[in-house]
Amino acid sequence: MIEKINKILATAKKEISGATEKTISELQHKYLGRKSELNSILHSIGGLDVKERKKIGSLANKVKKELENLFEEEKKELKKSAKTEVIDITAPGRLYEVGHIHPVNQVLQEILEVFKSLGYEIAEGPEVEDDWHNFEALNIPKDHPARDMQDTFYLKDGHVLRTHTSPMQIRYMERHKPPVKIVSPGKVYRNEDEDASHSWSFHQVEGLVIDKNITLADLKGTLEVFAKSIFGPRVKTRFRPSFFPYTEPSAELDASCPHCVGKGCRSCGYSGWVELLGSGMVHPKVLKTMGVDPNEYSGFAFGLGPERIAMIKYEIPDIRYFWHPDERFLEQF
Ligand code: DAH
Repeated sequence: MIEKINKILATAKKEISGATEKTISELQHKYLGRKSELNSILHSIGGLDVKERKKIGSLANKVKKELENLFEEEKKELKKSAKTEVIDITAPGRLYEVGHIHPVNQVLQEILEVFKSLGYEIAEGPEVEDDWHNFEALNIPKDHPARDMQDTFYLKDGHVLRTHTSPMQIRYMERHKPPVKIVSPGKVYRNEDEDASHSWSFHQVEGLVIDKNITLADLKGTLEVFAKSIFGPRVKTRFRPSFFPYTEPSAELDASCPHCVGKGCRSCGYSGWVELLGSGMVHPKVLKTMGVDPNEYSGFAFGLGPERIAMIKYEIPDIRYFWHPDERFLEQF
């Protein structure tokens, strides 16, 4: 019996010294629990004779006490070492991902930098517009297809979500007199189904210059500087006649594809050219609405889409990548 008790003590000591925070409680249960060997010895000594009972009883109780102390000490030790682990200064650092500027905003900033360097002011305006600024003042009559319910988000009170940034031409001229030279960046909204090249919301940058003797050549020269600044000095530009109610004449600007330099590739649909923006000379009717005398002043305007520019620049095939973002897409920029 004595031998048995000593053996229990010895093996328990060994196991306790190798214990972890997880196993220590199990061990305690194994050696001191109700069903432990030591406990059954203590229960059985009642049947021994008095001398034996005293000897074995006191040994078993001594061992029990000793084991209890050992478990308490070991638990304290384990707790202590767990704490030092938390402040282990040799542990390798954890890298946290930091966000960065969205590709559309990067391109938008780039675009604004180009115009700032040409002396343009930046003017921002409201996204909720009234009919007058979004349409009427821009010579878009009531029956113009651009007003179709399908293209415009109408609010209950008759306001609209601006369908383009052109209303800022009117708003700015309500408070300023020529000469003016502004770009106006912001979001626009269209009631359209999404596909690879259409989104119900995107950005535009509007440009407006009004001064004496402004000609189409000034417009072409400005846009050429813009295209070369964004896509590189090798790109060429061309005007294609177009129509906008607020400009006359109107033109769309194409750039030679920056990827194949006009040879034709997948990026430009093998045409060698990419469409960049809409522009034109401010319509005399619109100048009059602005309170500007068309006999004294002339001006040009343009409107471009940063998403479109970004898609061309980075060969992004689908506008939805920007707004249904996948981190793997965004991480590339
Ligand atoms: N507002 C036009 C659009 O949303 C873009 C545009 C075309 C703006 C010609 C202009 C312009 O200022 O002159 O597509």
